[in-house]
Amino acid sequence: MAYAAFRSIGAYAPKKILTNDELSKMVDTSDEWITKRTGIKERRIAAKNETTSDMGVEASKKAIERSGLDKSEIDMVICATISPDYFCMPSTATIISNKLGLGNVTAFDISAACTGFVYILSIAKAFIESGMKKNILIVGAEKLSAITDYTDRGTCILFGDGAGAAIISATENKNEAIIDVHTGADGTYADLLMTPNGGSGSAHDSLDQEAGSCFMQMKGNETFKVAVRTLTKDVVEILEANKIESSEINHFIPHQANYRIIKAVGDALKMKDEQVVLTVGKFGNTSGASIPMAMNEIYENGLLKSGELMLLDAFGGGLTWGSALVPFSPLK
Ligand code: ACO
Repeated sequence: MAYAAFRSIGAYAPKKILTNDELSKMVDTSDEWITKRTGIKERRIAAKNETTSDMGVEASKKAIERSGLDKSEIDMVICATISPDYFCMPSTATIISNKLGLGNVTAFDISAACTGFVYILSIAKAFIESGMKKNILIVGAEKLSAITDYTDRGTCILFGDGAGAAIISATENKNEAIIDVHTGADGTYADLLMTPNGGSGSAHDSLDQEAGSCFMQMKGNETFKVAVRTLTKDVVEILEANKIESSEINHFIPHQANYRIIKAVGDALKMKDEQVVLTVGKFGNTSGASIPMAMNEIYENGLLKSGELMLLDAFGGGLTWGSALVPFSPLK
């Protein structure tokens, strides 16, 4: 049987920094409020002509280079995004594969909001274990600034742009395989987080509508409570199912939505500060890109070593959630 190994990570953050002080000039808020309630100090904003696929390509180049693979060996590309280059088609994954010159690959997007990266990890694992694919490029990429309402202080302080990518490859060595991935969803909470217009369920009867009607809307406080509950339950379940103690985790990499959520979940799981990866302060919430960007941060800082065990935990619009137990298994 083939197993799926997590071979490499890469990420990209746009140059432009949007600070809390700059946001305080745009909406009625302050650096003090944002820092205290979210832990966010700044976030990155893509250039006007920089697309989600552009950022995905930059992250992918690093992941491919670090994997030791030749790009011709990649047979599938999956992109998790809620801010695709184009509404409906073509998919951002096909644009990324074309820009990378990957030739004939299977390529598609999925929509699971902030849980997107864990979802594409589970899909990649399944394709590899079934023997259908050998080397899969997974990309979480978001230009959330394109769907953020910069007059709504309840959301615009949270979100940022960026991308992360990873290579998942077939292996016969069970010791280097992804241990488990759990995913779930509950549509009864769909209205907590949504972009209400622009699709076939839209209140508008045509796509010819004001751009503003396609922005994200969120019931932040309700989302917060469900997030803490779900993220904690999710981790407890995956650890118990695999008979792993939280003390055995080298790097707990949760979705970077809010420092208070991460702290509450980390405390409930008795994680030590040094186990918990935190990038929300510098990147804000980058949805599907947040976990791979956080993982890349520890990789580039020399903190992620071969064989170390990562625990991923995500939560987002849908509502969706997911967790994964992933040993880091680079070839070089
Ligand atoms: N600046 C100043 N005051 C503000 C701001 C702001 N930016 N935003 C809200 N307030 C005010 C509110 O109006 C309210 O005032 P009131 O008491 O006079 O009514 C007060 O602050 C408290 O508002 P809450 O919404 O209760 O604040 P809360 O502590 O819940 O923080 C936040 C809001 C940061 C949005 C938090 O609820 C949160 O992080 N929620 C979860 C986000 C999340 O995890 N989303 C899921 C993933 S995202 C995805 O899938 C795309």
